[in-house]
Amino acid sequence: MRPVIIAGNWKMNGLPAEAGPLAAAIAAAMPHPDVVRVLCPPFVSLAAVDAALAGTGVAVGAQDVHAEGAGAYTGGVSAAMLAGLATWCIVGHSERRRDQGETDELIGHKLLRCREAGLRPILCVGEQLAEREAGQAEATVQAQLAGALRVVTAAGGFPDDLVVAYEPVWAIGTGRTARGADASAMADAIRVTAAALGAPADGSRLPVLYGGSVTSASAGEFLAEPAIDGALVGGASLKVDEMAGIVARAAVTAQARLEAAGAA
Ligand code: PGA
Repeated sequence: MRPVIIAGNWKMNGLPAEAGPLAAAIAAAMPHPDVVRVLCPPFVSLAAVDAALAGTGVAVGAQDVHAEGAGAYTGGVSAAMLAGLATWCIVGHSERRRDQGETDELIGHKLLRCREAGLRPILCVGEQLAEREAGQAEATVQAQLAGALRVVTAAGGFPDDLVVAYEPVWAIGTGRTARGADASAMADAIRVTAAALGAPADGSRLPVLYGGSVTSASAGEFLAEPAIDGALVGGASLKVDEMAGIVARAAVTAQARLEAAGAA
């Protein structure tokens, strides 16, 4: 049985002084231990959020990590630096691919750094609108996945704690979402590629999240799909009521999975 995971990506929003109270308020509004809940604040707010979430069961994630372990990389933050503050880490977000020119190969090295430091990675993949319209969505996502994961598998096998977030670029921050059925088909394609790269159990244990304009109103469309294991939430993750609604819906799916596993 795969877990149901809701991760909030705060992106570059909020000040450190605001982050702790916001995290505490969100955690209190999503009291569903059956759902794996993660909040990913900016680097400078990790310590405040880590302190605010102590004892809540909500985990802390970073939004990025440097591809190198240490050295003359001004402004960089290494995996070892994050390890005391976070247990999860987003890598390969489309905003970093776009703004920092991150390549699949570089992202693969970030996955390696996560493995060394014991950070659980959420690897983001997703196609542009033109790629979807050209019928290239699955091929694009599969190439992103393979490009990053090849670096990791060559250095010691498939990362067994990997989570993949399918985030179509045209759905991020636009208010437009994929259709549940399309996201589900993409999750299947992701697991096919993962299996070819050596994922255990033919990829069937790999959690795949959907991301892109997820709100409490749209979350059900994805959480109703058996192939989708949760959501990576951007804008709505800064709002207490939205996160409460999204995680409450996720808890319904988590409960149904527990019951199905118990009946089997
Ligand atoms: P959004 O962002 O929910 O604001 O579209 C999602 C993401 O970028 O992870």
